[in-house]
Amino acid sequence: MSQKGSVNLGLIGQAFMGRAHSNAWNQVNRHCNPPVKANLHTVCARNEETLGAFAELWGWQNTSTDWQATMANPEIELVDIGVPNDKHLIMAKAAIAAGKMVCCEKPLAGKFDEAREMVRLAKEANATTFVWYNYRRCPAIAYARMLVDQGVLGDVRHVRAFYLQDWADESVPLIWRFDGEIAGSGSHGDLCAHAIDMVRFVAGEEVTEVSGALFETFIKERAIMTAASDGGIAGGSKGDDAQMGKVTVDDAVLFLARFEGGGVGHFEATRMATGNQNKLGFEINGTKGSLAFDFEQLNELRYYDATCSRGTQGWRTIITTHAPDHPYIEHWWPDSHMIGYEHAFTNMAYDILRVCAGQEPVVPLPDFEDAFKTQCVLEAATVCANEQRAVKMSELL
Ligand SMILES: NC(=O)c1ccc[n+]([C@@H]2O[C@H](COP(=O)([O-])OP(=O)(O)OC[C@H]3O[C@@H](n4cnc5c(N)ncnc54)[C@H](O)[C@@H]3O)[C@@H](O)[C@H]2O)c1
Repeated sequence: MSQKGSVNLGLIGQAFMGRAHSNAWNQVNRHCNPPVKANLHTVCARNEETLGAFAELWGWQNTSTDWQATMANPEIELVDIGVPNDKHLIMAKAAIAAGKMVCCEKPLAGKFDEAREMVRLAKEANATTFVWYNYRRCPAIAYARMLVDQGVLGDVRHVRAFYLQDWADESVPLIWRFDGEIAGSGSHGDLCAHAIDMVRFVAGEEVTEVSGALFETFIKERAIMTAASDGGIAGGSKGDDAQMGKVTVDDAVLFLARFEGGGVGHFEATRMATGNQNKLGFEINGTKGSLAFDFEQLNELRYYDATCSRGTQGWRTIITTHAPDHPYIEHWWPDSHMIGYEHAFTNMAYDILRVCAGQEPVVPLPDFEDAFKTQCVLEAATVCANEQRAVKMSELL
């Protein structure tokens, strides 16, 4: 570490995730008392006009519009990649070659072969890597994982997992999320990836087979973009209705899955489920009990204890804001002074800094190899839909 007790960060990207990560790297120092501090060394993005103000707002000490120079900067120890999916491989490759630790946004890559290559490069270099599957660090989800480790589910029988949004009507222009060359896929890699990671993480089981996959693109053409989003998903983006371009990704995806413990499940993701604005969740039913989560009520975990007498059985809602029972809460506010979206990023920044200091994370962190298992499920569903057949994970690993 270049400065005693701190890690020098280089962040690539200054829009949605650029803001979320900048906030996390700031807040982790203030709230979490990490064993090494985050030192916000350099932020790199393409828009020079806005970069200075962004750096000043979020406390980045240096700016750059040249990501290769950022990777090569010997002062930077941890590179944080918050750019669209087609750049993950090329940037991670340069960072690993320069001997840096890397944390990369999800999905690991837009394309399966690129994700595989990222795992190979990281393994070969014995690099320390992380992937921003940030929802693992909502206290309710981390706590669900802890309960499963204690055996509350028994054998997992059924899984229903979903990530439903509704922002993608005809008024949204052809932003990068609709371009298969950049994004790789649509709701599948963008949203379903989180649902898959969450279920793998909570249930502690891998998917072994995917079947019945269905992809749909409802809006096949969109206006060519004249202004990119201003830091949200599509918010602020503008298009020219006189010029239309082809959408090359899915708007919605559904598929069935088998799990290694013998359970079965289904996954669903869409950007077109009106009324569901950010509904990421699951219900997992086991022989001893069930757990359920919905991000639109992110402080709550629902638990059904099937070992109670029949007369007293019933779903209970646990408000997961009680320290020390509920993970990460000790860093935040008194009981039930609710936390939000950004806290999971800060909790993840905390665990990354723990690993940088040689400590264990509070709950397992996904590295490239772990995130590749989620990528395999994404790929299996894609192959399944294209070839209309069940796909075993062993075909891909
Ligand atoms: N973990 C999550 O919950 C979550 C949420 C949203 C997005 N993401 C992921 O984060 C990544 C970025 O998504 P976003 O929503 O922040 O996108 P965005 O469009 O809001 O921002 C992309 C940023 O990348 C920068 N960029 C693009 N190419 C660049 C280059 N060659 N050099 C330097 N900067 C470059 C842009 O200037 C912009 O600042 C994607 O992989 C996406 O899947 C994750």
